[in-house]
Amino acid sequence: MDFNHPQTNFILKPQDFGKDFVFGVSTAAYQIEGAHSVHDKGASIWDQFTSKKGNTFNNHHGQIACDFYNKFEEDILLMKSMNIKNFRFSLAWSRIIPNGIGDISQAGIDYYNKVIDFCSECGITPWVTLYHWDLPQALQDKGGWTNRDIVSWFENYVQVCATHFGDRIKNWMVLNEPMVFTGAGYFLGVHAPGYKGLKHFLPAIHHAVMCQAAGGRILRNLVSDAFIGTTFSCAQTTPFRDTPRDFIAAKKADALLNRLFIEPSLGLGYPTEEVPVLKRIEAYIKPDDLKNAAFEFDFIGVQNYTREMITHSYLVPYLQAKIVKASKRNVKTTLMDWEVYPPSIYNMIKQFSQYSGVKKMIITENGAAFTDNLINGTIEDVDRLHYLQSHLEQVYKAKKDGFDVEGYFVWTFTDNFEWAEGYHPRFGLVYTDFETQKRIIKASGKWYQSFLGYIKP
Ligand code: BGC
Repeated sequence: MDFNHPQTNFILKPQDFGKDFVFGVSTAAYQIEGAHSVHDKGASIWDQFTSKKGNTFNNHHGQIACDFYNKFEEDILLMKSMNIKNFRFSLAWSRIIPNGIGDISQAGIDYYNKVIDFCSECGITPWVTLYHWDLPQALQDKGGWTNRDIVSWFENYVQVCATHFGDRIKNWMVLNEPMVFTGAGYFLGVHAPGYKGLKHFLPAIHHAVMCQAAGGRILRNLVSDAFIGTTFSCAQTTPFRDTPRDFIAAKKADALLNRLFIEPSLGLGYPTEEVPVLKRIEAYIKPDDLKNAAFEFDFIGVQNYTREMITHSYLVPYLQAKIVKASKRNVKTTLMDWEVYPPSIYNMIKQFSQYSGVKKMIITENGAAFTDNLINGTIEDVDRLHYLQSHLEQVYKAKKDGFDVEGYFVWTFTDNFEWAEGYHPRFGLVYTDFETQKRIIKASGKWYQSFLGYIKP
């Protein structure tokens, strides 16, 4: 199919990114699978969190979501028809080990085996995230990420996944955006498990850092030819005003948003100089921890959606810095109230490439939610199309400037459950009718299909 949208002048071809560059789509178990209680699946913290009124937009939950659990063949075939050759998805810990630790569910293993094998039948390479935020509730009942024992629970889980799937899965990501699941889940209380305050946040950070490296080591030992990464959320931080105070505030926000998890994984410890309150994390650090927090990842998953403008604020405890919302800045935004600012992805690639320990980067998520209008069975999502193209142009620029970026995954394949925001913001290349579970490829999806399918004349 040749897709020439009248309003675009995007001229790049996949080949321009080099022969090893991978293109794909990203998803996560709780956001798409549904089937929350089939067979012996255990509850996750998101099952629990969404069961309480007021935690999510209109009390939405992921009990059915995109019903990917039952529709995976159809969805993977659709992916294939769209020329998508790389599929990133996550494993639901509580589907594999219902209580987080202990008995393994054969039904859970069988299910992921079917998904993996069907991908390979369709010529699609699976990229697996071990943890995308859906901790088994049974482990949360013991404190979850705040309990040091999570390191051994997680090691056991990784070992189970590596031994069952490592013969066919070669591309692994240990954690998805630890800053978001610890920050939103254990400090702000807006994501599962809904905890607030430093006393939850600090131990959760440190234990996630320990698990990140421990998971990497287990994969390295058990999976031959593994390509191992972990993913980080990131956003360029810009001082709102050209003042020394806003400049310092932006540095602090950068330490928190962009450096907190990558630096210990590179053996650099925590960025305590910019954020002194982080020194309190020492209470949770055991001898040798900082050494064991480091792991030589083969790649870093860069996940970027926007930039943040930061201003000084005495009112914000610990940080004295705050984000100036995009809606207050008269800029183009997505439905998440995130500024559309493509250079942020370039600047984050550049920033991460300055660490000598970062070998390769893959954009494991980038995408946008805009209002989608279904008119006569089609969705002309021009804003999303432009968003994706303009970000890809920045990735291309980064590559041309010599930064080692080797892949780009769109968030996301089908519209899905967007955490606290429920089903309201749609990020998909493919529209999901949540009543009928019908899929409709949007204009952005058709563009991606024709871009990926380009064959040199
Ligand atoms: C997460 C996804 C989420 C997306 C859009 C990332 O923070 O990894 O699960 O849906 O951003 O908000």
